[in-house]
Amino acid sequence: MSPVDITVVEDTAAAARIVGERLAEQTQIGGHVVLTGGSTPRLAYELAAALAPDWSRVELWWGDERCVPPDDARSNFGMAKEALLDGLEQAPAAVHRMQGELGREAGADEYLLELIDAGTFDLVLLGLGPDGHVASLFPDSPALEVTDRDVVGSESGFEPFVDRITLTLPRLCATRELLFLVTGDDKKDAVARVLAGEPSSDAPGSLARAAEGGVTRAVLDRTAAALL
Ligand code: 6PG
Repeated sequence: MSPVDITVVEDTAAAARIVGERLAEQTQIGGHVVLTGGSTPRLAYELAAALAPDWSRVELWWGDERCVPPDDARSNFGMAKEALLDGLEQAPAAVHRMQGELGREAGADEYLLELIDAGTFDLVLLGLGPDGHVASLFPDSPALEVTDRDVVGSESGFEPFVDRITLTLPRLCATRELLFLVTGDDKKDAVARVLAGEPSSDAPGSLARAAEGGVTRAVLDRTAAALL
């Protein structure tokens, strides 16, 4: 597996700034950007919207979604809408949200169709769960074994406990850059297992690396990096 380029900064705000700036840079280049859910990226999205109000050269995708309506507080799309999309002057060329409200199987089938012509992603953002999960690929989940589909429905292995729609590992990894953003003391064990341990399905993030020709980076704060 390709090595991960790791940047450690003082705190959450500094980590969010790096990722916000990276997103803003991608708006100049254009291309296909995959957002992550969870709470950690909110600040990075807000900064990206402030730094780059024109996203018209970018198509947005999601790595995973909770099976709730888009206006539910748990929706990954909903978080990105509030933190990023609502602050823009020029909307992205396309916003390919996962339709969580359809349920995990129908939602995954719809996204499969949406992804047909997508090609290689330019930038995939990933958070990391304290259990080592990325997107909605949970430890030892059957979804980790799927190599013949780009997107699947899955059960949740972590809060919030609602069904999920998730890209599969090969689809997440088909990117020019895979970028982890992880902060906080509660993530330090997972960070060590995912970035410094052997690849293993009990720490799914350890299996998430950009495919050949791509780069994998991680932006961490000091507390998340404490065991590296
Ligand atoms: C989700 C995610 C998930 C998330 C991690 C970290 O929908 O829950 O995409 O993989 O990135 O659970 O979440 P936090 O940033 O909230 O810790």
